[in-house]
Amino acid sequence: MNLRMRATGIVGGIAVLLAAGCNRVQNMLAPAGDQASDIGRVWDLMLWVCVPVYALVLVALGIAVWRNHGAVAGDRALERGLLGWSITIAVLLTVLTATSFAVDRRLHARAEQPLQVRITAKRWWWQVEYRDPTHPSRIVTTANELHLPAGRTARIELQSSDVIHSLWIPVLAGKEDLIPGHDNVIDITPRVPGLYRGQCAEFCGLQHAHMALDVFVETPQAFAAWRARQLAPANAPRTPNAARGQLLFEQSACAMCHRVQGTLAGGVTGPDLTHFASRRTLAAGTLKLDRTTVAAWIIDPQRYKPGANMPKVPLDASQVDAISDYLMELQ
Ligand code: CUA
Repeated sequence: MNLRMRATGIVGGIAVLLAAGCNRVQNMLAPAGDQASDIGRVWDLMLWVCVPVYALVLVALGIAVWRNHGAVAGDRALERGLLGWSITIAVLLTVLTATSFAVDRRLHARAEQPLQVRITAKRWWWQVEYRDPTHPSRIVTTANELHLPAGRTARIELQSSDVIHSLWIPVLAGKEDLIPGHDNVIDITPRVPGLYRGQCAEFCGLQHAHMALDVFVETPQAFAAWRARQLAPANAPRTPNAARGQLLFEQSACAMCHRVQGTLAGGVTGPDLTHFASRRTLAAGTLKLDRTTVAAWIIDPQRYKPGANMPKVPLDASQVDAISDYLMELQ
């Protein structure tokens, strides 16, 4: 690698870091919720304690090298200096440990009447379910989108149906693993409405990088409206082509894996598509969701997400067109 390429690489790296620092979508230093703010304060404290200590150690090392002679037994000043240092380090370490412990307790403090959500990690997408304790049958199931009302704690049960994944929404909370056969729980109390990004943070196979989660923090009213829309069964097709698409969907391999509530499609291994077209992205953040990408995805999913469980279903162009029309009406 020549010097110019190396310099370009370094400048590029700095630009990426700056962009990451400025973006508020996925930046742990720009918290938008209680848990991320608590973790951010521990980070600040550790930074402001550890940087001066590190600088002082380097200065002391420099002086020792410069003086270049061994310690002399009975050097009172040196002994007092070492004792002072040891006490200072012990106190600082105790402060850091105690703060870290106290914040950890706060992260696991249980809120009253939290919003009940369950996220199941799958290779390579997220299933999100909202449960209603007063009406157990009213479950909202969606995929790759988490909607949360600002100001209310959500208790999120974390499950995995295959390998270990890890949920990380940097602006809202720390990481928490999703482990097959072992349920974890994370509490998230978002404060600032906005669109944020979560990502799988545990290498889980070929498409680990294409396992993103859109997180919408909304006002309580907007969240309630969203939830009510998601509870409704799927729209009936409005055009003849979409109606043909629904029939094809129900009669082909699509319905084996996908559910569309209120229709014959009842598969549960793939994402629930009842309100598919209301989502922002396709295939867990891999593609922006629109009519063109949906058709392209149906024609050859493996082109965009090699290794994903969705197979190439044998369909001709007019069938793909009809199914795409149908799916785009599932608002
Ligand atoms: Cu799921 Cu990495």
